[in-house]
Amino acid sequence: DLSAIDKAKFVAALRAVDHVESGMKLGLGTGSTAAWMVRCLAERIRDEGLRVVGVPTSIRTAELAQSLGVPITTLDEAGWLDLTIDGADEFDPELNLIKGGGAALLREKIVATASDQMIVIADAAKQVAQLGAFPLPVEVIPFGWKATQAQIEEMLVSMDVLARDVRLRRAGDDPVLTDQSNYILDLHLRRIGNPRQLSLVLNQIPGVVENGLFIDICDKVVIGHGDGRVQVRD
Ligand code: A5P
Repeated sequence: DLSAIDKAKFVAALRAVDHVESGMKLGLGTGSTAAWMVRCLAERIRDEGLRVVGVPTSIRTAELAQSLGVPITTLDEAGWLDLTIDGADEFDPELNLIKGGGAALLREKIVATASDQMIVIADAAKQVAQLGAFPLPVEVIPFGWKATQAQIEEMLVSMDVLARDVRLRRAGDDPVLTDQSNYILDLHLRRIGNPRQLSLVLNQIPGVVENGLFIDICDKVVIGHGDGRVQVRD
């Protein structure tokens, strides 16, 4: 028996996988909700002989897909994708997202923006009126990361952001490394008044590779509830 949170993630994933058709090239997201999607996809491949190929957004997702018999390829091999299904850490009423809680935001953003459509799957707790309670992940180059951190802090001051705690993500004593061997800075901002502007100015800083704000990328959010209900926002 599933816990309520797992049930919510599972029913959202199951509904999103309904959108998959034979012949599609798919972006495969990262995280616990996306893992449910990979499992649901594997089941359709097994039961219906669905023919699809997936481009994983992380090493973790690649390993899961391979272990379940979901065919995978690279984005360069696939060229362009029909649909990406991924989780999110937060989504707002405009379907703008915070992603990167699992440190996979860079590949996730490359894959989502190389897809005709992006569907986000999420439990209802991820729905917010305004983004920012979840710390915003920013992928930075390890070289000179402290200078990059200082430039981000200075930029937040100039934007009159009041809560602006910027922390290097660590696993124990060591910095967390992304799949590209970069670092993650988590920006604890509480509220993000203008996500579009913040995303643009962050990406102007030389040491910043990409940030976890997904603006105008997501087309549809499938929201799962612990009692098995599913809602769709698009
Ligand atoms: C991975 O980097 C993230 O963008 C995930 O999509 C996000 O953290 C959602 O993960 P869960 O589904 O585990 O909450």
